[in-house]
Amino acid sequence: MRIHVVDHPLVAHKLSTLRDRRTDSPTFRRLADELVTLLAYEATRGVRVDPVAISTPVSETTGVKLSYPRPLVVPILRAGLGMLDGMVRLLPTAEVGFLGMIRNEDTLEPSTYATRMPDDLGGRQAYVLDPMLATGGTLIAATKLLLERGALDVTAICLLAAPEGVEVMQEAFADTEANVTVVTASIDERLNEHGYIVPGLGDAGDRLYGTA
Ligand code: URA
Repeated sequence: MRIHVVDHPLVAHKLSTLRDRRTDSPTFRRLADELVTLLAYEATRGVRVDPVAISTPVSETTGVKLSYPRPLVVPILRAGLGMLDGMVRLLPTAEVGFLGMIRNEDTLEPSTYATRMPDDLGGRQAYVLDPMLATGGTLIAATKLLLERGALDVTAICLLAAPEGVEVMQEAFADTEANVTVVTASIDERLNEHGYIVPGLGDAGDRLYGTA
């Protein structure tokens, strides 16, 4: 598994405001959306394109267009939904699948309560949206599901990651040929005893949807 931490002053600036407890939900939503677009720019560096012929007003030339089969974008409900618009703005041909996963706050184990995506992902590039890579359980389960359905590669976009989550992802995909990448704005210090990322930004779903 590859991990890519996007090192850019605009990313750091937006992330700092997201972390601030005084940032209200409308501002948090807008900044998360903008940050996803910046992360998506890096995450889609390997997106497949095909050559096309183009006539400019001046001459003939060649360019590229996004390939078929279309990439699949999979937000993990609920907090991943806050990342969807920022992603599809950059990848307009993408199809969107949904994965409802929740972690048990006592055991921190994930369970799947909804799956809405094609059964056969043969040859498709998949992009998973999950704002917080914390214990890694949810992202491992989501990535395995996509690979089992035949995804060509899986790229997860996470606003933040904990070192513990990165490590379990590395272990989970160490012995496979699977092409798995995590793109994030920061690897933070650690997880606390409740499974929250420190310093983190709190509960991403609550901050996005104002339920804090
Ligand atoms: N999920 C969150 O929303 N925040 C964390 O810090 C960890 C998991």
